[in-house]
Amino acid sequence: MNWTRGKNTLLLAAQEHDNWDNALSLAASILKRGGLVAFPTETVYGLGADALNETAVRKIYEVKGRPPDNPLIVHVAAAEMIEQLALTIPEEVYILGEKFWPGPLTVVLPKKARVPDITTGGISSVAVRFPAHPLAQRLLSITGIPLAAPSANISGRPSPTTAEHVMHDLAGRIEAVLDGGDCAVGVESTVLSLLSEPPTILRPGGITLEMLQEALGKEILDLTVDSAGETFKSVPLSPGMKYRHYATNAPLYLVEGEEEARWRQMTVLAEHFSKLGSRVGLLIFKESVNSLEAPFVEILGSRREHSEVARRLFDALRKLDAMEVDVIIAEGLEDIDMGKAVMNRLRKASTYILKAE
Ligand code: TXA
Ligand code: MG
Repeated sequence: MNWTRGKNTLLLAAQEHDNWDNALSLAASILKRGGLVAFPTETVYGLGADALNETAVRKIYEVKGRPPDNPLIVHVAAAEMIEQLALTIPEEVYILGEKFWPGPLTVVLPKKARVPDITTGGISSVAVRFPAHPLAQRLLSITGIPLAAPSANISGRPSPTTAEHVMHDLAGRIEAVLDGGDCAVGVESTVLSLLSEPPTILRPGGITLEMLQEALGKEILDLTVDSAGETFKSVPLSPGMKYRHYATNAPLYLVEGEEEARWRQMTVLAEHFSKLGSRVGLLIFKESVNSLEAPFVEILGSRREHSEVARRLFDALRKLDAMEVDVIIAEGLEDIDMGKAVMNRLRKASTYILKAE
């Protein structure tokens, strides 16, 4: 087996099919003994523990520095696993599961008593998801246990989309990381609550409001945006939402608005901070490279390719941190389809939001 040890955390190479079996069986045995293993999903890397083992789950909160009232998503690989966790399974779960599972959709359901309170941050519902990544699925089926897995980052930091990101945050604090390469989606799953009627989106992601409405043939509420369609920055809907998220070390100025006005505003900011002697970092799209300038630049690809932008976002935030910039000036995107999930993350990551006019 191909593995290395980083400050006592095993990095298990599993990018190629040949390596899988040994890496997976070691990861599974650690999980069954109540240990923590980070593993790839199609969205971001998750920090896994046996969802029904209170002691194991408690360690997740400890190593992440996660507030105890922020519930975890429980990952499953079969419908029977959901039956172990949820008190009732509404018809919608089967319709949505048929269409979007395995994939980046999480549903919130009333929980059974056997799911420890710590797993759900003390509330009476449980969030479940059936991930699409083949390594995640194999891990779930080999262990046969539902895995509680929040994003495998230190709480408040950008979510991890590579094994290196996980090692950066958690090496020495967890038993192992299963390295499955880069995550394909790059932002976390859509969280949909089925506790009320109509169902409500608690976090936007790869499965959009339109896709959910079409599948269910009825209205769905998106509680994450205001009437102008913009992300609420301060209204906590899900217990986790009241905490700062995706934060870079440097303050992030997010500039929204039409192109010309946006570029003008970003240039003013960049010049202002340069004059103060700050190391200025830009987070921009390919279309802006000839119009904006700064010593440190991360390009998220074309602003028309929302999926690619989503895939690169967290890595770009972490790269700007690694460049030790003093300030980040980021450019906004249209709030449509996957752009909505991207803007949700960027607005939460931001210290200031400016509407350029
Ligand atoms: O794509 C994902 O969902 C990734 C991968 C690893 O699966 N996981 C992830 O987990 O993003 P985490 O813990 O970083 O985010 C879980 C979100 C939080 O905002 C939390 O408050 C919400 O889901 N959540 C979990 N259980 C909930 C519940 N019972 N009711 C309402 N919100 C819940
Ligand atoms: Mg997270």
